[in-house]
Amino acid sequence: MRTQVLIVGAGPSGLLLGQLLHRAGIDTVIVERQSGEHVLSRIRAGVLEQGTAELMNEAGVGARMQAEGLVHDGFALAVDGVRHRIDLRALTGGRTVLVYGQTEVTRDLMTARAAADLPTLYEAADVCIEGFDGDHPVARCTVRGEAIEITADFIAGCDGFHGVCRASVPADAIRLFEKVYPFGWLGLLSDTPPVSDELIYSRHARGFSLCSMRSATRSRYYLQVPLTERVEDWSDTRFWDELRARLDPQTASALVTGPSLEKSIAPLRSFVAEPMRFGRLFLAGDAAHIVPPTGAKGLNLAASDVRYLSQALIEHYRERSDAGLDHYSARCLSRVWKAERFSWWLTSLMHNFDQEPAFQARLQSAELDYVLGSQAARQVLAENYVGLPL
Ligand code: APR
Ligand code: PHB
Repeated sequence: MRTQVLIVGAGPSGLLLGQLLHRAGIDTVIVERQSGEHVLSRIRAGVLEQGTAELMNEAGVGARMQAEGLVHDGFALAVDGVRHRIDLRALTGGRTVLVYGQTEVTRDLMTARAAADLPTLYEAADVCIEGFDGDHPVARCTVRGEAIEITADFIAGCDGFHGVCRASVPADAIRLFEKVYPFGWLGLLSDTPPVSDELIYSRHARGFSLCSMRSATRSRYYLQVPLTERVEDWSDTRFWDELRARLDPQTASALVTGPSLEKSIAPLRSFVAEPMRFGRLFLAGDAAHIVPPTGAKGLNLAASDVRYLSQALIEHYRERSDAGLDHYSARCLSRVWKAERFSWWLTSLMHNFDQEPAFQARLQSAELDYVLGSQAARQVLAENYVGLPL
């Protein structure tokens, strides 16, 4: 097979890039290790920055998001049993976020790619890439027992944290930065009405919790748990009891419980790979960076990478200019590191770090007290949460 841009990975990054390039008349092939159903089965965050929503509209896949997404003007920080509202709209001059599950984003992109009958090789095994340090990158894989070779002008590594693309870069050509947190998030999805109209991030002596949602009838909750915890040790009843114990009294009394549709534990890490370009290979999304989910930046960072990469590739083909490609990595990393900082900061502010010295806990309380008492500090929190300008 021959194409202009080979995309490895059919998660949000790969599908959104493929859709934007298709609308610009640029041919792509996507190779994906899993089945489409498996990709859709992943439960991920669900808060879109306005820039991400705008990109979905530019990609021509924003109709359902606009119809079903929930515009949120603010969220709450709950500390010591008291909820404090962060008024995003007032603090940022009118900006908001959109609550719309990543599963739905992925579904909308998959539907559009299928409708355009664009080549997408699901269940592609043994994907390998080479030649990206020269002018003729190539990918090889096996699909249903058939060996396939794809030559392309460029390769987009949209294959996530555990993908093959970053792993194919020589160790001396890449620098990795990582911080692993001493806890994970136990998440539960349920068809119960959300406990509140807006998200609630709660700090509590028992641990952090987050009350989120997917719609007016589907809720998403998280509990900070030690890394030693196993999801099979958490019955629905144990989850609901622990969540209730961590919530402020008003919220706890309003909690509607029900059977879990999904339960899983995810570790928290901060990770960045530099640079994000290696010859004709460009990394985007989780392939290049990971943030703790606290700031809901994972999908939004993937979207900004894809915005920059699609613009650069379109510029290459339409204007024969490689300025965007040459600037891609630095442009992405400038935004990536600001989102890494914010995600680390909000995680540090709201979670229990029992292993840290008591001095650290006092600093954490002082910072939270300052943030809640300062208009300027709330404004900093709000402008990072809604997303820094592209
Ligand atoms: N070959 C082909 N596909 C692969 C390979 C491989 N060797 N390795 C991984 N993949 C696929 C995965 O199966 C997955 O579908 O690449 C895709 C990567 O998707 P994501 O991990 O979702 O990453 P990305 O598309 O960048 O989206 C980032 O997803 O994980 C969340 O929090 C993250 O919200 C963020 C978003
Ligand atoms: C979610 O709904 O899954 C979610 C929302 C906000 C976050 C993290 C996760 O910060």
